[in-house]
Amino acid sequence: MTQQLIDSFGRVHTNLRISVTDRCNIRCFYCMPAENVQFMDRELLLTFEEIERLVQVAARLGVNKVRLTGGEPLVRRDLHKLVAKIAAIPEIHDIGITTNGILLGEQAQELYDAGMRRINVSLDAMNAAKFKEITRRDGFEKAIEGIQAAQKVGFKPVKINAVAVRGLTEDEVVPLGEFARRTGVEIRFIEFMPLDADNAWEREKVLFGHEIIDILTREFGPMTPLGQTDPGAPATDFEFADGRGRIGLIASVSQPFCMSCNRFRVTADGKLRNCLFSLEETDVKSIIRGGGSDEEIAAAMCNSIAAKKEGHEINTARFIQPDRPMYSIGG
Ligand code: GTP
Ligand code: 5AD
Ligand code: SF4
Repeated sequence: MTQQLIDSFGRVHTNLRISVTDRCNIRCFYCMPAENVQFMDRELLLTFEEIERLVQVAARLGVNKVRLTGGEPLVRRDLHKLVAKIAAIPEIHDIGITTNGILLGEQAQELYDAGMRRINVSLDAMNAAKFKEITRRDGFEKAIEGIQAAQKVGFKPVKINAVAVRGLTEDEVVPLGEFARRTGVEIRFIEFMPLDADNAWEREKVLFGHEIIDILTREFGPMTPLGQTDPGAPATDFEFADGRGRIGLIASVSQPFCMSCNRFRVTADGKLRNCLFSLEETDVKSIIRGGGSDEEIAAAMCNSIAAKKEGHEINTARFIQPDRPMYSIGG
């Protein structure tokens, strides 16, 4: 390998997160507006062939892990065909998806057959009423069915992402813990980050990781920390005292993992983002559609990574929330 994606802090970037659509079949308040969402015109979206080419170029620069995100990635038609194209790129040994699970019952088998192995399902509540309060749509039962389908088909691991919001999801912590113990999925509790469409995030609304551990400890006994297995992974894992089940904390606000960050993103409309919170983007779609060479695409990636900042500034007075909310960036 001649070139690598290394930033000015020495972080090597091997993990590419690709948003395939900004559309979604639910409307989680921490990500999207409730109504009248302005979605991207379809011709603005990268085609599967364009995404494949980007991944091929990224793979030559050391990327070996790809995650498909959205919006809700499973609303993009024939997504399994994109998975097959990416799976055929020899350097890519890990393809995952982050989905709300509602369409997973229908698609789990074809995704698996196309070469996908890892699934993270976003589910913040263990009951239909709270699910609806958060997502402003129905879908709880379908999401549970989707999780079951993914496990049955053989995805491993299946992880659940549960955004933790003070005053809203405290009562979900124990039921989610029980779900992890009963089914073997890992539940990762995620500190609410300032990426909502309504700009309503406040520090007071973050339910912190250590508070979640306190709630779990009161119910199940001491939680055993498992340490950081993969330095690029956002979660710190814990096991229940009796060894049955595990949970993770993604404490992006109280304990940022920026110093070991190995990830960058491409939005559904073809913009490279070197950080979830970056305020600048690099337009690779224009390079591709303008007839640019692989070398020009590679140079755009290298330059984007070279310009990466040390980390997010949520905990400082300098923090500026990106114009794009989560659904438009890609989770
Ligand atoms: P694996 O570790 O490969 O299973 O995936 P992941 O945890 O990286 O991906 P997932 O999409 O499930 O993300 C889980 C949570 O971490 C989500 O809430 C994301 O918003 C958050 N997250 C993902 N990537 C980043 C990132 O680059 N920076 C920060 N601060 N948070 C991130
Ligand atoms: N803060 C924390 N996590 C969020 N997600 C979406 N918006 C936010 C936010 N504002 C999570 C989703 C999904 C993942 C991609 O990001 O729940 O699991
Ligand atoms: Fe990486 Fe930016 Fe996320 Fe920090 S906030 S982990 S630098 S993407």
